[in-house]
Amino acid sequence: MIIGGSASQKLAALISKELDETLCPMETRKFPDGERYIRIGGNLESDAVVIQSTGYPQDQNLLELFLILKTLKSLDVENIKVVIPYFGYARQEKRFKSGEAISAQVVSELLEACGATEIFSINLHEDGLRNLFNIPAHNLSAMPLIAEYIEEHLDDPVIVAPDKGALGFASEIAGILGCDSDHLEKTRISPDKVETRTKDLDVQGREAVIIDDIISTGGTIINASHILRQHGASKIVVSCVHPVLVEDALLRIFASGVDDVIATDTLQSDASTISVAPLIADFIGK
Ligand code: R5P
Repeated sequence: MIIGGSASQKLAALISKELDETLCPMETRKFPDGERYIRIGGNLESDAVVIQSTGYPQDQNLLELFLILKTLKSLDVENIKVVIPYFGYARQEKRFKSGEAISAQVVSELLEACGATEIFSINLHEDGLRNLFNIPAHNLSAMPLIAEYIEEHLDDPVIVAPDKGALGFASEIAGILGCDSDHLEKTRISPDKVETRTKDLDVQGREAVIIDDIISTGGTIINASHILRQHGASKIVVSCVHPVLVEDALLRIFASGVDDVIATDTLQSDASTISVAPLIADFIGK
């Protein structure tokens, strides 16, 4: 039985098709005062898989997920696998400044308390977040799916990480495709401002693919695309796993001169051309 939260309805449907499992009917709505209502239909069994990304509106999507899990638990569903393709609050997995809330820890504790028995996510911003759980927690990589797309659509590409943090993704894709990779140096000035240093890059006349886990405001990608253009890249394709794409980020990225933006459907967006459904189905089916 697959249960899709309101943030991941299409993805839940695709996963249920992949696994040939029933997609559970569910009613979700808001009361006039803004409070959430959920009702799970269908005949529940002892096992269930819940799919819900916890991107914007994070708090609403999280609360809905907690309501679903607790309801399943109270209706005697014993094994509840929870797939959170995009895990909101993953950036606050530790206390960076004294007095800060460790938000990811609160979320992980609530997921367990509400009945989750196993967690699956995709390219968690920090893999260490898995250690916050006392139940099995898996961090799957969408890089092979992105590599497959690149192989089908680009010629002799060079994969570029816009900062050191994304170097692992660039290397993973370059390793799969047997092509070159490189990275830029970025400094974050504030949540919506980054600076990227220019450096020598061998992209003259080549098709460049920028890869990152998340595109949020687009600042990181826009800086990187300017540098790649200055260095003579013939084509620039931007790719990411989680298209958070705050406000007009997608438009601003295209306006910076990139040729295409591709992302997965961990979050639904205009750039979501690659589905993670086969990846998730493969893992939860094991
Ligand atoms: C940062 O550590 C992440 O990997 C991304 O580079 C970041 O979230 C992108 O943010 P923005 O699109 O706002 O530059």
